[in-house]
Amino acid sequence: MEIKVTRAQTNRTRPKDADLGFGQVFTDHMFVMEYSEGKGWHDPQIMPYADFSVSPAAMVFHYGQAIFEGLKAYKTSDGKISLFRPRDNFERMNRSAKGMCIPPIDIDFVMDALKQLIRLEEKWIPETLGTSLYVRPTIIATDPFLGVRASFTYKFFIILSSVGAYYAEGLNPVKIWVAKDYVRAAKGGVGEFKTAGNYAASLIASEKAKKDGYAQVLWLDAIERKYIEEVGAMNIFFLMDGELVTPNLTGTILPGITRYSVISLAKKWGMNMSERKISIDEVFEAHKEGKLTEVFGSGTAAVISPVGEIRYGDKVISIGDGTPGETSMKFYNALTDIQYGKAEDSENWIEAVD
Ligand code: PLP
Ligand code: COI
Repeated sequence: MEIKVTRAQTNRTRPKDADLGFGQVFTDHMFVMEYSEGKGWHDPQIMPYADFSVSPAAMVFHYGQAIFEGLKAYKTSDGKISLFRPRDNFERMNRSAKGMCIPPIDIDFVMDALKQLIRLEEKWIPETLGTSLYVRPTIIATDPFLGVRASFTYKFFIILSSVGAYYAEGLNPVKIWVAKDYVRAAKGGVGEFKTAGNYAASLIASEKAKKDGYAQVLWLDAIERKYIEEVGAMNIFFLMDGELVTPNLTGTILPGITRYSVISLAKKWGMNMSERKISIDEVFEAHKEGKLTEVFGSGTAAVISPVGEIRYGDKVISIGDGTPGETSMKFYNALTDIQYGKAEDSENWIEAVD
């Protein structure tokens, strides 16, 4: 399939790196293609970034059949562009697609389209450590139809955003709030897919957390309300009594690509690393006994985010001394050194855009 390219007639400039924030600055172009039964994915285009025309009856607006991904392109110290494990994102997108009855995409084709788009938007890739070009591939159901079924037509698009840190705290420890009265996902549901509705369902708890001064929600399992799952936009790790622990994947947690990367590095470094059930009581108990040394989240947007405080009902614990812990920083540095081309890509995680 040939990609039609229409160049934007604009001369916008990228804001200063320090002013970027997260997800507010969009580039000049986007990639779009359509799907219909019989034709498959067709009409791939790189075109000026603009509003879409979609029917108000489009099924995505009514029944939420939508999936997305998040990955990043980095400007390396020698001026090259690198993507971090991008194929893993598109593979996860295809798993989300299967779970949401959306047709899969051809990963090689979409990778080529993404690289072409990024090459055109090179000036939007910021260069300072901690900044990057965030890539948001998305698929939405477009049938104008009010009956409940899987759509027959879809739109796939990739938009790009020049970004800085996800949290206002930057690399400083964030505070998280354990949801007691709300759950994110139950077994047999769609928790492991990156589908829009998971985020919509999380809003009521995260707004409450925010009102109390907490950056994000820490979710517990839906059945026993006891075992830790993940945070709103990242997976979670605990360093307890010398063991690095993260919840195992049970179908309700997003299988984060940063999570896999942290686990691989921890194993490579010979750390005592486990993927297992962790109850919130175990974490509070470990804290009481002085064994909870560090907590951090992992995610594309969040990178490695140290957690400095956890609130669970009336109980509040502080972790560390208000600065990022040694282990969190070790993972942060190892990952970002690979992403920004400062360290050898020994794990083969980088795909160059040349
Ligand atoms: N969990 C949730 C709910 C997320 O939204 C994200 C972000 O993508 C993650 C975990 C981390 O996943 P990844 O490391 O692939 O970005
Ligand atoms: C990401 O880390 O890419 C995410 O998708 C998290 C969030 C912004 C929803």
